[in-house]
Amino acid sequence: MQSYALVTGASTGIGREIARCFAKDQIPLILVSRQMEMLEKVRFDLMEVSKQPIELISIDLSHPQAAGELCWRTEDLGLEVEYLVNNAGFGNFGNVQDLPEGKDEELLQLNTVTLTGLTERFVSKMLEQGRGRILNVASTAAFQPIPNMAAYAASKAYVLHYSEALAEELRGTGVTVSVLCPGPTATDFGKRAGVEMLPFFEGPLVMTSDRVAREGYLGMLAGKRIIINGRLNQIGTFSNRFSPRWLSCWIAGQLMQSVKRRGQTS
Ligand SMILES: NC(=O)c1ccc[n+]([C@@H]2O[C@H](COP(=O)([O-])OP(=O)(O)OC[C@H]3O[C@@H](n4cnc5c(N)ncnc54)[C@H](OP(=O)(O)O)[C@@H]3O)[C@@H](O)[C@H]2O)c1
Repeated sequence: MQSYALVTGASTGIGREIARCFAKDQIPLILVSRQMEMLEKVRFDLMEVSKQPIELISIDLSHPQAAGELCWRTEDLGLEVEYLVNNAGFGNFGNVQDLPEGKDEELLQLNTVTLTGLTERFVSKMLEQGRGRILNVASTAAFQPIPNMAAYAASKAYVLHYSEALAEELRGTGVTVSVLCPGPTATDFGKRAGVEMLPFFEGPLVMTSDRVAREGYLGMLAGKRIIINGRLNQIGTFSNRFSPRWLSCWIAGQLMQSVKRRGQTS
């Protein structure tokens, strides 16, 4: 039986580029997102570099039953998943009282609950096979609280801690868990979250999605636990350890206030 790589959020951005890495290595793929048309375009593109099967599943992963349904749909297609990439996610920017009702619940459902549900379901199957690799996409936002993106940063802290703990729990089983922590990356994320005018979403510090994806992919293959993209992000997340928690939270809050001011003047 052929083994597949399942990538959530594969229609755009980092997920699409991670899918490209698997395609180049001739690993069969299951691409997942809500938009079937976008997935079809991605498959068309990837067929230039891969001769392997590429299956598409359109599903809204922010629904409470989504993990179970996605797992069941792969079983129904008779597909065995050896690589799981939990990449789909989004951010909300704004004061808690100004966010649309339920938007942070939707975020938590997608960024944490579905990620957990998919991980536990596929881990069991990987353990039966004695092999498997999981790559969870967190963020540098996982390393400190961020006012005005409170639920997003907290959701990524969850992904970071959950992945590290599982990696330790699964040590020696043949199944590895890696967590990718990108900083600002040129994708639709900033626009969708409403933070594209943040100072570090412009200029040379922004990384490309293909570089972020490639580093994540290679780190996952090497069984690395935490992959932080770019030297500056590595320094930033490391230096956080030496700052009082209230200070890093205050600095993050000041940056977010600058986004608001820019939004008001533009
Ligand atoms: N870009 C950055 O600066 C940055 C930095 C750190 C971490 N990250 C993380 O990287 C991951 C990928 O983000 P990106 O930057 O590539 O953003 P993106 O271009 O907006 O891609 C997000 C992907 O998630 C999918 N998605 C969103 N909601 C979904 C839902 N309810 N059900 C199923 N799929 C859904 C989208 O597909 P559809 O719309 O087709 O459903 C899309 O494929 C996210 O977890 C994000 O938090 C991004």
